[in-house]
Amino acid sequence: MSSLRSLACLATRNNVRHSIRPTALTANVRASITMRRTFATVPPTGNHSSGSNHLLWIGCISLGVAYTYFQKKRAEKIDALVHKEQLENTAAAVATKEQENQPKPKDTSTPEKNTKKEPTNKPDNSKKTASEKEINYQQVYNDIAELLDSNEDYDDGSYGPVLLRLAWHSSGTYNAKDGSGGSNGGTMRFKAEAQHSANNGLEVARDLLEKYVKSKYPELSYGDMYTLGGVVAIQELGGPEIKWRPGRRDQGENKCTPDGRLPDGSRKADHVCDVFYRMGFNDREIVALTGGHSLGRCHLDRSGYEGPWQEAPTFFSNEYFKAITSREWVKRDLPNGLWQWVDKANPEVMMLPIEITMLEDEKLKPYFELYAKDTAVFFEDFANAFKKLIELGVPFTGDEKEYVFERLNM
Ligand code: HEM
Repeated sequence: MSSLRSLACLATRNNVRHSIRPTALTANVRASITMRRTFATVPPTGNHSSGSNHLLWIGCISLGVAYTYFQKKRAEKIDALVHKEQLENTAAAVATKEQENQPKPKDTSTPEKNTKKEPTNKPDNSKKTASEKEINYQQVYNDIAELLDSNEDYDDGSYGPVLLRLAWHSSGTYNAKDGSGGSNGGTMRFKAEAQHSANNGLEVARDLLEKYVKSKYPELSYGDMYTLGGVVAIQELGGPEIKWRPGRRDQGENKCTPDGRLPDGSRKADHVCDVFYRMGFNDREIVALTGGHSLGRCHLDRSGYEGPWQEAPTFFSNEYFKAITSREWVKRDLPNGLWQWVDKANPEVMMLPIEITMLEDEKLKPYFELYAKDTAVFFEDFANAFKKLIELGVPFTGDEKEYVFERLNM
């Protein structure tokens, strides 16, 4: 790709060189040659008719002949040079014509670079959303799916859970009151948002997508890429089908949301409710979304908590709800001063302090029990709530195609 682009640049540069310089060179060179030829062939004038000056005349004439010969040779050389440049010019023009007939190489510049481009009369393609450009989203999906188990040494052998957490954290900053935050803008790519403590560890997912997906699909917006990563994770790890639409546009660092919009696992149910009500969710949707914890685990060096929520952290299911509603949970202190709940029978498995307060909350409890009993209802509610989550604040035009991706590995 970049080599094609450099070829195009080279052709343009050569074209400029050949279309301007030869004309000027030809005119200047011809003028100077004519002047020098005239000067060299006209004999000097004067009143020195004396025979005693014969020798001087012979000397002058010899010099004149030598000079004329020298100039003639020089003129021939310059003529040859001019001719060569004209030939090259014609070749470059042909090459440019051929270049124009070739499919245009994709623009691999970043959105930031695009904004610095010189203004042209051409339509500003950088303002188009990814949906208006030709991206094969099923192919993007497949490429992300291929990454999931590309490193068996990572965690439980899948990047799926951390990709799901990235999709959720890039969307869960939304504020329905003022429309700020959400997946539109892809602002977690900026340090200002990436360094929020809730986002610790998500560089694993961002870097993975940047390296293997963004580089291949430069027109794909960060918001579309982050949310699509979550969809791939859910579907490829056995979860429900998630309908997905492109249309998120990259925005600048000034759109990063303030720290503190994502839920804090050490707090209580009312805090979770405040966070999700701010986005526009109801109690049922809050509990359904928390079922995202059927995937993945906590990491001591990221959140300060440790362990998975149940024994199969790379398989999307309602096991999270079964575990939280049926096991005996005991408190365990952690070396960093935090504490968490662990399963008395299997202390490797854990729950966050906030999750047990959610289970005990009378508004939320019925949904925990419902989802523990009925996988189909959980899958349906989760799919709807997750789609809503990743679309919060996205300025869809209404023309976007809604994708239902074919699974690659299931
Ligand atoms: C109820 C509010 C929530 C709280 C307090 C919460 C908190 C946390 C915490 C503390 C972690 C551990 C991070 C780490 O140490 O790596 C985590 C991981 C995770 N969360 Fe949540 N979360 C919430 C809601 C959600 C939602 C709505 C989803 C998705 C729909 C989700 C998906 C995940 C996933 C998949 C992981 C595992 C990541 C990995 O394995 O790397 N969470 N969450």
